[in-house]
Amino acid sequence: MEQAPPPPSPERSPPPRAIAARARTVLRERFGSDAAVVATAPGRVNLIGDHTDYNGGFVLPMAIDRVCAVAAAPGTRAGRWRIHSTDLGQDAEMDVGRRLSPGGTVKGLWTSYIAGVAAGFQALLDGEPLPPLDIAIASSVPLGSGLSSSAALEVAVATMLEGVLGIELEPLAKALLCQRAEHEFAGVPCGLMDQFASIHGKAGHALLIDCRDHTVTPIRLPRPEEASFLLIDSGVRHELGATEYAARRRTCESAARKLSVPFLCSLSPPDLPAALGRLTDEEARCTRHAITESARVEAAAAALRDGNLTRLGQLMLESHVSLRDDYRVSCPELDAIVESVAALPGVHGARMTGAGFGGNAVVLAPPEAVDRACDATGSRVALVRPSPGARLAASG
Ligand code: GLA
Repeated sequence: MEQAPPPPSPERSPPPRAIAARARTVLRERFGSDAAVVATAPGRVNLIGDHTDYNGGFVLPMAIDRVCAVAAAPGTRAGRWRIHSTDLGQDAEMDVGRRLSPGGTVKGLWTSYIAGVAAGFQALLDGEPLPPLDIAIASSVPLGSGLSSSAALEVAVATMLEGVLGIELEPLAKALLCQRAEHEFAGVPCGLMDQFASIHGKAGHALLIDCRDHTVTPIRLPRPEEASFLLIDSGVRHELGATEYAARRRTCESAARKLSVPFLCSLSPPDLPAALGRLTDEEARCTRHAITESARVEAAAAALRDGNLTRLGQLMLESHVSLRDDYRVSCPELDAIVESVAALPGVHGARMTGAGFGGNAVVLAPPEAVDRACDATGSRVALVRPSPGARLAASG
């Protein structure tokens, strides 16, 4: 009798140090120099709390074991950065001898994130020139899949520049500098969650971030023997993401103005019945999502502290429904994944993660349900671990 094939197991990405080594090797091959500085910065998975950061609410992301690595060596021509992206197989030159401005770059290209961070440092240095550099970039954070590849790139470049310049920025100032790069140079009006997660990541922990006062509280996550986080890729990369994101953000801002609050999440669920009647249907849906989602994040942090993974899983599912029906940023492929995986015995919960319109679903499952989850979806499944934030790699 033929044996059944073993169930597929989840993918693991090469360790961050292998990505740092790749950037270092490519720098040598491409530019003939040894790295003076290598920085890594992780992507993130948001466990719960999407589209709450720019509404002044709570979020609960974890930094993951997928990083962007930036290796740099002194360049030879004043005012010039030569840059090679290993993953895209592309080269770029940047004139950092002049003040970089958003108008001078094309929005959305990978180089615009780098230009934005460089411009932030130019402003900090107040006229003192940036040194010439040769730079190689390698990343294990997949592009456009809701895992914050852009924040990882921004934070890795900023961390590399801290190393080159021998300075250390205060974490909030660093996150704001990277966020400004994304707003002004890439044209995406993002919140601060991704940059914060990439900077503050802590092994074994999620980060409870209060986006109103920017406090970050690490929350211990279950050990891998108890439960793991899986990512299931919908394979959808939605072009509408950036424009719809900006539109939702504008709707939230107009609702907050009508309700006379600085941010929607200044209100809490008991305020909803009175608030909703004063809003358009579109504003009411966004408001209900933002306020209930932020409350779910607080409940999720409490569930983690109590070790109650069943409750955490329920909250993840409620979050997905709210993002799907009220905020309308899911897509049929993500909905199908969440529905099929959540129904499997043992699985605690699942939801879309990040901005939406495609990308990944995150699943919370005990070890015995992992293979079942891999089996049940025809899609790619990856295992991610809660990991440390941005850092300079040891030299050598
Ligand atoms: C993107 C943005 C974040 C956040 C999420 C949705 O990842 O960069 O600031 O708004 O979407 O939660």
